Amino acid sequence: MNSKTAEQLILFENRLRKRGRHLKKWAQRTETYAYRLYDRDIPEIPLCLDRYEDTEGSVYLVLYLYERPYEKDEAEETVWLEAMRETAAKVLDVSNENIFVKRRRRQKNRQIEAAQYAKQAEKDFYITVKESGLLFEVNLSSYLDTGLFFDHRILRNTVRSESRNKSVLNLFCYTGSFSVYAASGGALRVDSVDLSAPYLKRARRNLALNGFTDSSRYALIQSDVLSFLHNTKQSRDIIILDPPTFSNSKKTDTVLDINRDWPLLTSLCINRLNRGGTLYFSANSRSLKFDEAVLRSACAQTLNITDISEKTVPEDFRNKRIHRCIKITRK
Ligand SMILES: C[S@@+](CC[C@H](N)C(=O)[O-])C[C@H]1O[C@@H](n2cnc3c(N)ncnc32)[C@H](O)[C@@H]1O
Repeated sequence: MNSKTAEQLILFENRLRKRGRHLKKWAQRTETYAYRLYDRDIPEIPLCLDRYEDTEGSVYLVLYLYERPYEKDEAEETVWLEAMRETAAKVLDVSNENIFVKRRRRQKNRQIEAAQYAKQAEKDFYITVKESGLLFEVNLSSYLDTGLFFDHRILRNTVRSESRNKSVLNLFCYTGSFSVYAASGGALRVDSVDLSAPYLKRARRNLALNGFTDSSRYALIQSDVLSFLHNTKQSRDIIILDPPTFSNSKKTDTVLDINRDWPLLTSLCINRLNRGGTLYFSANSRSLKFDEAVLRSACAQTLNITDISEKTVPEDFRNKRIHRCIKITRK
């Protein structure tokens, strides 16, 4: 091991200890046992480390490498990554088989971005974790993403606190985490829409884990979001629109490109908002050019528009630009 790597290991170890101590108290206070311990805090160590503790108290780690191929060749990088993994295992007292390592390639083009949802490993490895006192099943092995996006924890809590006696629509619902929070906040009904049958099944399991088993009140709808919005007659009090940046699923003819399609998607949602209702629109695309004036000119309704991006980045994220989040209320 070269001296630069040895130095980095010490920095990484110290950082993990410090963050571990800090976040432990916060985790207990908020009943959140799935969180980010390291978020590319040190620029020369381009890793993210997520800690998952299951309901039986076993701890698992997911270590993501954000590659910078111009700096290291692959063999060198593998040795480096292994050393980082061993450090994490030692400092956090987690056995090697409980650590999942993934490479999050920088997306060179949008087609590759869609491949982010491709299966990574043959064998699923599911555990159940608690977040904000609610239960979620996550799959640590098979995909790049585990089923729970930590960066939206604050927004999920906001949705929970605003859902009492409200009708809620969760678009691009994925594993249904927003739906679970809305249900736990006492929503009258929660409709969740996604193209993918396997993800809708996981959403159903997450709802059931938290006691929400009435499928007429907590409906799961398999549909392309655009067709759903064109066809639905019902208006809602709260709509969550948290789409992927790009999607060209074989299940639909629609190619979704959020940088291009956000005015259409948001205005269709606003047309389906009750008076006084709120749309939460979120996107991870760094190149999204959200423009209030464009939205206002596309909608006949009077709107209150607030950028809540910063306010919705949680405690465990150092990257304050992890998502863009806009609150749109219809007057
Ligand atoms: C990034 S996730 C959305 C994250 C989710 N909102 C959450 O809170 O965890 C992407 C989801 O969008 C779904 N999806 C992609 N294109 C779609 C489309 N055209 N219509 C409906 N769902 C789509 C995928 O199946 C996947 O579940």
